[in-house]
Amino acid sequence: MTTRIPLIAGNWKMYKNVSESVQTADRLKELAGGVTGVEVMIAPTFPALFPVSKALQGSLISVGAQNMHWEKEGAYTGEISAAMLVAAGCRYVIIGHSERREYFGESDETVNEKIAAAVQTQLIPIMCIGESEKQREAGETFSVLDKQLKMGLKGLFADALQNLVIAYEPIWAIGTGKTATSEQAQEVHLFLRSKLTEMQGESLAKGIRILYGGSVKPQNIAELMAMPDIDGALVGGASLDAETFSKIVHYQSK
Ligand code: PGA
Repeated sequence: MTTRIPLIAGNWKMYKNVSESVQTADRLKELAGGVTGVEVMIAPTFPALFPVSKALQGSLISVGAQNMHWEKEGAYTGEISAAMLVAAGCRYVIIGHSERREYFGESDETVNEKIAAAVQTQLIPIMCIGESEKQREAGETFSVLDKQLKMGLKGLFADALQNLVIAYEPIWAIGTGKTATSEQAQEVHLFLRSKLTEMQGESLAKGIRILYGGSVKPQNIAELMAMPDIDGALVGGASLDAETFSKIVHYQSK
């Protein structure tokens, strides 16, 4: 049986300057730095990546970036490459978050380029997919996700995708306080795993961690994690406070 180590990832979005980020990371290190059986990751803003990764040295908490460019280097003002993120201490990178898709022109094609570049650089991509409220109401959830998954992973195969993480984030649940029920999330996660099995074979699909994201809080994490195909969470708002995020990380001991 494949065991998937759960991943609890915090996405700090455009919050906290460098010193606030380091302060929160220091506190999180005290509260959750030695936790085992669950992997923990935080994704601060770009300027805070290096100082936060320094602050977390000696703990088991990893650092991730919230975006990247697919080229190695070049005249791309405002962008950052996978190798630069690794050099700043990153192990993970979030790719295709719905806010990037909605406000910054991210498409399935750019997601695909970014995933290819991340895996080539040994950076673990967390690929975000999810349907809008309108799409869910129109009964399009599964077709939307199918397309995002297929296009995002186009041309990429099992050996490149060993460490891939998928985050299912229904857009209507992000930052709204509306969480998908654990049954709704499980239904989608099971669908995604069966699509991954069709696309990449069973052994890879069984090992891929599928996170749920969208208003995850200390109050709903245990119920979500009890579902067989939910392998962790991508947490926005509730990851900004070290005490609250640590409660999510310690969901098993509750
Ligand atoms: P939220 O954000 O937890 O604040 O809903 C989740 C996300 O955007 O990843």
